[in-house]
Amino acid sequence: MISIIIGTNRIDSKSRTIGDAVKKRLEQQGEECQILDLRGLPGALLHSEMYTEAGQHNAVAQLQDVYISPVEKFIFIVPEYNGSFPGILKLFLDAVSVRNYKSNFSGKKAFLIGLASGRLGNAVGLEHLTSVLNYVGTSIFPRRLYLPGIDSKVTEGELTHPADMDKLNNMVDAFIKY
Ligand SMILES: Cc1cc2nc3c(=O)[nH]c(=O)nc-3n(C[C@H](O)[C@H](O)[C@H](O)COP(=O)(O)O)c2cc1C
Repeated sequence: MISIIIGTNRIDSKSRTIGDAVKKRLEQQGEECQILDLRGLPGALLHSEMYTEAGQHNAVAQLQDVYISPVEKFIFIVPEYNGSFPGILKLFLDAVSVRNYKSNFSGKKAFLIGLASGRLGNAVGLEHLTSVLNYVGTSIFPRRLYLPGIDSKVTEGELTHPADMDKLNNMVDAFIKY
């Protein structure tokens, strides 16, 4: 089982479009997968008690128990917001870290995909996320997919850039073997 984590809660995100393309490829290759779209997070998870196990929001606990704890491999789809990865993704990582810490990310594997309107495809944000995931014990797949200029590559909810689609499919296939 692979969890595909959509690293934003923005409505109609392009990250979700990329996540859907990743899911399609994984399924074509016979891999079981599931999408965790951070749109599903309740706003109420953000409160000052969230840093204790007892204060963890029920909805966060449920997502953690399905998409994080029992899963060994993750694919993060990460848009560039203000030169880094979105704050909602860090908030989610912090929110799950207060319970069952060791079974969340330690000893697991992740493949990172970055996208941005700009020219670097969130290269810097993927470095920041790599530091965070390394800190919690996750090994990062050495190949990363950068999708710069994303606005002209997604049309009506589809990735319509053949070269990037080929790269996406090739890297997903390689991550399955990683
Ligand atoms: C809050 C916010 C900050 C952004 N900051 C950047 C940025 O620093 N660099 C960039 O190239 N694009 C930036 N963008 C544009 C996004 O990279 C672009 O809209 C991309 O489609 C976002 O992914 P999403 O559709 O999954 O939200 C920003 C967008 C938002 C909403």
